[in-house]
Amino acid sequence: MMSKYSQDRNYIYYENSNIPRNKLNIRNQKILEEKERELLFKGYEYFHKTLSEKTNFNENYFKELHRYSFIELYDFAGEYRKLNISKGYTTFCQARFLAQTSKEIFRKLASDNFLKNYSDEPKEKFAAKIAYYMCELIALHPFYEINGRIIRLFFDMIAVYNGYEYIDYEKALKSENDKNKYIAASIDCMTSNDDKMHQIVLEGLNTSI
Ligand SMILES: Nc1ncnc2c1ncn2[C@@H]1O[C@H](COP(=O)(O)OP(=O)(O)OP(=O)(O)O)[C@@H](O)[C@H]1O
Ligand SMILES: [Mg+2]
Repeated sequence: MMSKYSQDRNYIYYENSNIPRNKLNIRNQKILEEKERELLFKGYEYFHKTLSEKTNFNENYFKELHRYSFIELYDFAGEYRKLNISKGYTTFCQARFLAQTSKEIFRKLASDNFLKNYSDEPKEKFAAKIAYYMCELIALHPFYEINGRIIRLFFDMIAVYNGYEYIDYEKALKSENDKNKYIAASIDCMTSNDDKMHQIVLEGLNTSI
């Protein structure tokens, strides 16, 4: 069937595959995963190195994490999606509301001073704030691909800013079974219930020595 959907899909993915069209024309899942791992690692290095007092965790910064890290590979790096996306039973924020909804989330984050004042606050409170905004961004699902990793990178930089290590998702992501916990927490995000995500973030937040 030549549905609109399949045409839309072909805009991002190679025909009959889950491999996003990429500038290196990599068609092999394993090789692509390895390349993405390498690029994400470089992104972590760069954004950690350039983190400063002046860093504002605003929408431009968030998009820049995606753009800088993946521009070598994807045309859509740093660009919000124009198509609707579903995973499992979830349909993420509709594309036509995406820009507006994102602006609202980041306006609210700005009113929380981009979570830059949590080094002397209780960890619980910080984890609750992170979980709240993480859930908002998970439900937004702004990019065509690599949302999870960029959202985690974003909050890892906010964690470092406040004197914490990168959030340790080991407990949430180490096995398939545990990964389901993260997905379950993400599904709850769709109805603004961030309890599970709060638990995951709280367990994963550790101060550096
Ligand atoms: N069924 C679902 N309902 C709600 N959210 C989901 C569902 N499945 C996945 N997610 C969310 O979408 C994210 C995956 O998005 P995407 O594939 O764009 O990024 P990714 O970097 O490959 O993610 P990850 O490394 O977390 O698998 C997950 O991290 C999770 O938060
Ligand atoms: Mg993915």
